[in-house]
Amino acid sequence: MFLVITLGTWAHGNTEGKPGSHEYHVVYTQPETIDYYQKHGRYPDGAVLVKELLHAETMQMTTGPAVSHATKIKGWFVLVRDTQGRFKNSKLWGDGWGWSLFNAPDSKNTVSTDYQENCLACHLPARDLAEDDVHEEDKWIYTIGYPVLNKN
Ligand code: HEC
Repeated sequence: MFLVITLGTWAHGNTEGKPGSHEYHVVYTQPETIDYYQKHGRYPDGAVLVKELLHAETMQMTTGPAVSHATKIKGWFVLVRDTQGRFKNSKLWGDGWGWSLFNAPDSKNTVSTDYQENCLACHLPARDLAEDDVHEEDKWIYTIGYPVLNKN
């Protein structure tokens, strides 16, 4: 069994004045990735970050007027930390990570073809959000959303 725990959640709010969320992005990793980051301030070789995309609906519940809950899984974005540049000839590996998207009906075969085209542009803003002393290759990650990684 492969144990994973939640690293953080991104809630995508409804637009046009509607309350609540229409999508959640829940990020999972291995417990040892969190231990390592808390101690060393960086992601270890072999760290796997899985971002699960979930549709969401919002309704009135006894807990509040606009309560959102996840419904169906859309797919998974996956990053695997590679500190050694192992797969130099693959277009899915580079800049310190393996990059792939899997859509929900097929969790075995990625739909990604080239991380530089499919992923990098959207992860550039993460580099500006990252602290200066973060490892260069870890700056691709939106670590601001994962307070569990902070030293206690
Ligand atoms: C449309 C822009 C966009 C594209 C394209 C994109 N990402 Fe992201 N990614 C983000 C943003 C923004 C976040 C954090 C906030 C969120 O999910 O809403 C994120 C978060 C992630 C996370 C969680 C770890 C982290 O960095 O915080 C993973 C894993 C991930 N992306 C993998 C990928 C991979 C692999 C690809 C290419 C196959 C990809 N992303 C393409 C914008 C994008």
